[in-house]
Amino acid sequence: MNHPPSSFLETLRARLPLVTVISQRVRLTRRGREYTGLCPFHSEKTPSFTVSEEKGFFYCFGCGAHGDVISFVMQADGLSFSDAVKQLSQAAGLSSRSTFYETHNNRIKIHHSCLLDVMEMATRFYERQLQLPNGRSGLEYLHKRGLNDEIIAAFRLGFAPPGNAGSTTLKREGINENLLIEGGLLIPPNKGGSPYDTFRDRVIFPITDIRGRVIAFGGRTLGTAQPKYINSVATPLFRKGEVLYGLAQARDPVREKGTVIVTEGYMDVIALAGAGFSHAVAQLGTALTAGQLAALWRLAPEPILCFDGDTAGRLARARTAQRILSLLKPGLSVRLALLPEEKDPDTLIRTEGASAMAGVLSRATPLFEEVWQTLLKDHPLDTPEQLAALEQAINSLTSKIVNLTVRQYYYRLLHERRRALLRRMARGLGQYKKHVTLSGSEPQMKAMANRVFTAFLLTHPQVLMCHIEQVAELLAGNTALAHLIEIAATVLAERPDIDGASLVSILKRDCHESAIKWLERDLDSALQRQGQDPEGDYQRMLLALHDQALTREIELMQTMLTTDPSPEIWQRLQLLQQERYQLHVERKEFAHYEEVKYN
Ligand code: UTP
Ligand code: MN
Repeated sequence: MNHPPSSFLETLRARLPLVTVISQRVRLTRRGREYTGLCPFHSEKTPSFTVSEEKGFFYCFGCGAHGDVISFVMQADGLSFSDAVKQLSQAAGLSSRSTFYETHNNRIKIHHSCLLDVMEMATRFYERQLQLPNGRSGLEYLHKRGLNDEIIAAFRLGFAPPGNAGSTTLKREGINENLLIEGGLLIPPNKGGSPYDTFRDRVIFPITDIRGRVIAFGGRTLGTAQPKYINSVATPLFRKGEVLYGLAQARDPVREKGTVIVTEGYMDVIALAGAGFSHAVAQLGTALTAGQLAALWRLAPEPILCFDGDTAGRLARARTAQRILSLLKPGLSVRLALLPEEKDPDTLIRTEGASAMAGVLSRATPLFEEVWQTLLKDHPLDTPEQLAALEQAINSLTSKIVNLTVRQYYYRLLHERRRALLRRMARGLGQYKKHVTLSGSEPQMKAMANRVFTAFLLTHPQVLMCHIEQVAELLAGNTALAHLIEIAATVLAERPDIDGASLVSILKRDCHESAIKWLERDLDSALQRQGQDPEGDYQRMLLALHDQALTREIELMQTMLTTDPSPEIWQRLQLLQQERYQLHVERKEFAHYEEVKYN
């Protein structure tokens, strides 16, 4: 039940004396300080029902009924609390509770508009100071950081002179000290003394609400004083976790571009706007809050969050991704962008230009990809136990998503990827370790086979063309090989008739040396062994790879069987052996076919 504020009930009780209400139904007689009568809640001949106006209470010595004016009406008329209150307020001439709230709200509104006026006056003062001789150092500082007068005006940047100049001027303009304190412009001293200005000798960044009304300030030191930035304390206007810097200026550009960039600081937003990225806001030093995210989602479905390229930035990125999971809604997500080491958007734009920033934004990863990549990074996948750990990690991660529809899709798609990995693994194709070594030094059969296979494909471009999709899937787990195949495919798209030798020489010329060097010997021998039936060779290689994979898994199952002779493993082993038998038949047929063809 929604209880009205006690102040309303007090008003009600003050207006409606208990005795007045009760005497409408019970004949009351005065006895000393109290009134008595026949109890309306049980039948009786002698009065045991008493009413104390003083205490605002009635009590029946016969049946124990008791309460205040509201419970009297509830019991006598069989009404709910709120209906009783409604009836009583009508009787009292208080039109309704909501009217009461409205007048209450109005008072807050009036108060807010007073504070907003104060903030606006302060903003004008700081702006004015920046253009005056005593604001010279501030203006020079901003110019030195690459800001022109247009952008200074657009963000209403200003300067707070040293000392109490700000509050002194505002007081002279008729603002009283309490409002200045409440607006966070003036700090009341701890013990006695006089209050002093929050912002002194700093450049000023007004913080606005989405409609552009100034609600707080940030002030940066011109030098090395600590702290580097001072921000307004929380005030009735400035609720910290919900505000984004630059939102008012970014609103229209965000609508136009369909997305919003989220950075860490004041200067990032301003530098971005100066470089043509006017759809940027800042989260102001805090970790992105649920309130800020909600405000961002009202503007665009997939805000791009920027993180520094250093360790702290990577950590923040991982944490933010985790936290946002719980807040996801259908259609609403984020992308995560990574800046180069030691760079924020401001310094990146100053040193490498707007195009570098555009590159960073275009490489932003969708949250889902980030989640999957993190899972892979955190889980080596060399043993069944590690695979089981990945499965559990997916389950516990998705359980953090509150929205059931979104949760379902994350669950399904993550497990699908895990299963695809498993399938490739079972075929012995693709590498599952993230730490693939380009040197190819791992003496693994799997790796060897893949090298021979890749060298074959690169020296037989037309076969590669024919099976490009299958090949891409087979090699998807191996970044190095997949990368080479991808480059070969782009060359092939332009020159479909190219022969193996030419493709290899183009790759040797264009690819990074480390990407191709380790494959050199395989490429040379594949070029020398150009057969008559490349398509047949391809199919035979596939079968051989499959065979190797099956053999490996059979060996694994046999080992497992010695420690865990469970029916499941036994059954799996039977299936694998059967599959390998069929494969051998197939391979024999293929070999036979070859004989027939060539003899
Ligand atoms: P940074 O330390 O990354 O500063 O803080 P910055 O934005 O790159 O500042 P410049 O380029 O040196 O001027 C990022 C944000 O964290 C908040 C501010 O909102 C700042 O923009 N912050 C930082 C503070 O509130 N107080 C501080 O002392 C420092
Ligand atoms: Mn910076």
